[in-house]
Amino acid sequence: MFVSLEGIDGCGKTTQAGLLADALGDVALRVREPGGALAAERMREILIDPDLPLDPLAELMLFCSARAQVVAEVIRPALDEGKVVVCDRFSDSTVAYQGIARGLGVDQTRQACEIATGGLWPDLTLYLEIDPEIAGTRTDGGDRFEGEGLEFQRSVADGYRLLADSEPDRIHVLDGSRPQDEVAADVLAEVEEVRRQVAER
Ligand code: TMP
Repeated sequence: MFVSLEGIDGCGKTTQAGLLADALGDVALRVREPGGALAAERMREILIDPDLPLDPLAELMLFCSARAQVVAEVIRPALDEGKVVVCDRFSDSTVAYQGIARGLGVDQTRQACEIATGGLWPDLTLYLEIDPEIAGTRTDGGDRFEGEGLEFQRSVADGYRLLADSEPDRIHVLDGSRPQDEVAADVLAEVEEVRRQVAER
């Protein structure tokens, strides 16, 4: 089973990915994006460096390149082994950040993601929704995207909402502003439910 956690910077998804992987135990494999494989981690350094100018299209392609690597090297083999892959961000990040907030377009970014992943999408995506102003107090503003400021994070949040509304079966929205343990309990319950459904298929 393939689960992704999504949200704007500072929404708490990295903490939740860790708590979920711990709760699931040995069956879980936690991956972060961009990154999760040696070459993809190198690409991550370029992608988040605020001092390195990147054209939006080059940015999109590099995210997709990093994703192609981690899918081929880590995610597909783990899914084939029957693992529950817990991914901290996946293609929905690209559609929300590059497609909507950067303005490259939903269709174009989805197509790029399809090519990069061979059409792989998560069985379940949990979108941790939070007010961008609150989330902003939880980050240090140090990476390329955090440094874009509040308006950018607002358009990413609007993007996620649009995606969640357009794919309600896959993308489930959770209130990320609640205490960590409450969010974690909901995350685990949602994953166990979809895991049961996937096992019955
Ligand atoms: P992280 O802080 O969640 O590890 O992600 C690094 C940054 O990269 C974060 O600000 C979101 C951004 N990002 C995109 O813009 N597009 C993508 O496809 C992914 C995976 C991340």
